[in-house]
Amino acid sequence: MENFVTLTYNGSEIKLPVVIGTEGEKAIDISNLREKSGFITLDTGYANTGSCMSAITYMDGEKGILRYRGIPVEQLAEQATFKETAYLLINGTLPNREQLTNFSVMLNDNSLVHEDLKTFYQNFPRASHPMGILSSMVNALKSFYPTLGTREEEITLTMTRLLAKVRTMAAMSYKISRGHKVVYPRPDLTYCENFLNMMFHTPVKPYELNRAAVNALRVFWILHADHEQNCSTSAVRVVGSARVNLYAAISSGIAALWGPLHGGANQAVIEMLTAIQEDGGNCKKAIARARDKNDPFRLMGFGHRVYKTYDPRAIIMKKMCDELLASLKINDPLLDIATELKEFALKDQYFIDHNLYPNIDFYSGIVLRAIGIPTKMFTVMFAIGRLPGWIAQWKESMDDPKWKICRPRQIYTGEKEYNFVPIHARE
Ligand code: CMC
Repeated sequence: MENFVTLTYNGSEIKLPVVIGTEGEKAIDISNLREKSGFITLDTGYANTGSCMSAITYMDGEKGILRYRGIPVEQLAEQATFKETAYLLINGTLPNREQLTNFSVMLNDNSLVHEDLKTFYQNFPRASHPMGILSSMVNALKSFYPTLGTREEEITLTMTRLLAKVRTMAAMSYKISRGHKVVYPRPDLTYCENFLNMMFHTPVKPYELNRAAVNALRVFWILHADHEQNCSTSAVRVVGSARVNLYAAISSGIAALWGPLHGGANQAVIEMLTAIQEDGGNCKKAIARARDKNDPFRLMGFGHRVYKTYDPRAIIMKKMCDELLASLKINDPLLDIATELKEFALKDQYFIDHNLYPNIDFYSGIVLRAIGIPTKMFTVMFAIGRLPGWIAQWKESMDDPKWKICRPRQIYTGEKEYNFVPIHARE
């Protein structure tokens, strides 16, 4: 293949370099396009725009491939711990025993949060959405942990603090929302076990760790750990590009993830399945609504910007969902509705023509329900899982020698210049 493409316009020619990734993905480097031609590119929703070069995650939407640092997500979901996956994403390689021990010690040492944070939680109105609270609280962490030490130490410590404290803060917010005593992290428990214990242990009913639930949480978090340049990760990169602190960048990622078209879909799926159940389980009606262009309704948990054949995460999640429900002896009627809905959708011409398949969120809510996580906290669970990815992507962008502040352009479609008219002359 030639290493440039030629753009011809008005009898002029410009050669634009071609960039090829390690998996053969092709891009046209247009960084000098405006300077050379006066043109910019227009790509609403950035569906054809590569915003960066990245060595973290590889996705192939046609073949249903997802790999973190080269390792298939299926293998990580089968064999890795969430901590190993986080280390892999952030540092680029799997940790050896010593590195993993050091990482665990750092996470444990940083897992407590400042007691004054509790006051913040107590003052949010009861009906506040946990994602709004989490986004605000992560931003507030900067005030509790102001800059200290060298830049390198500060970055390492901030990344560790986030990984360790966000999990504690999520469980803490749940306890406070119920009016219960906060449960602190324990050094003898793993990352996933600790979270479940902080959520469900009470002084009158000690939490008994359930292996199947711990494993389900591990897989859930690994599957959510990174997904290259999705909306929230792009938010982290864009906000981070202004060289704001990492807490603020992650806080903006959490805000983006909250949206129902993104991470908020896991909550929206359960709400949709519940509404179908309350409507007598009429799946065909939901499919008809999703097809109707005059109806804003979308089948939540279906479709993806990149995956056009299947979402590999959804396959793992469905298998894990079946195993978990069987192990916990739970018969969730919402899973029956989801299965029926999927069967109708996959045979429906609209869904076939639009390449719409179940995505990870179609099943993840049922898994979280089975573990006992309240629906309003589903997207918070996604955020804890996505943290290593956000941090890795932010770190990569900070270390990029070609770093630039993210500042897209636009095509202006407003009024041409006209003169100001004083108020007395406007009637
Ligand atoms: N139900 C009905 N129609 C849909 C759906 C859906 N779930 N998703 C896409 N379409 C249609 C859409 O109406 C459009 O039709 P047409 O071309 O005839 O106007 C076409 O498919 C393309 O849709 P789009 O919105 O341009 O596609 P996109 O790539 O911009 O959006 C998406 C991807 C995930 C936002 C979208 O599929 C969607 O809204 N899905 C439901 C929400 C959801 O499940 N989100 C979770 C995504 S996975 C978790 C994550 O990583 O965030």
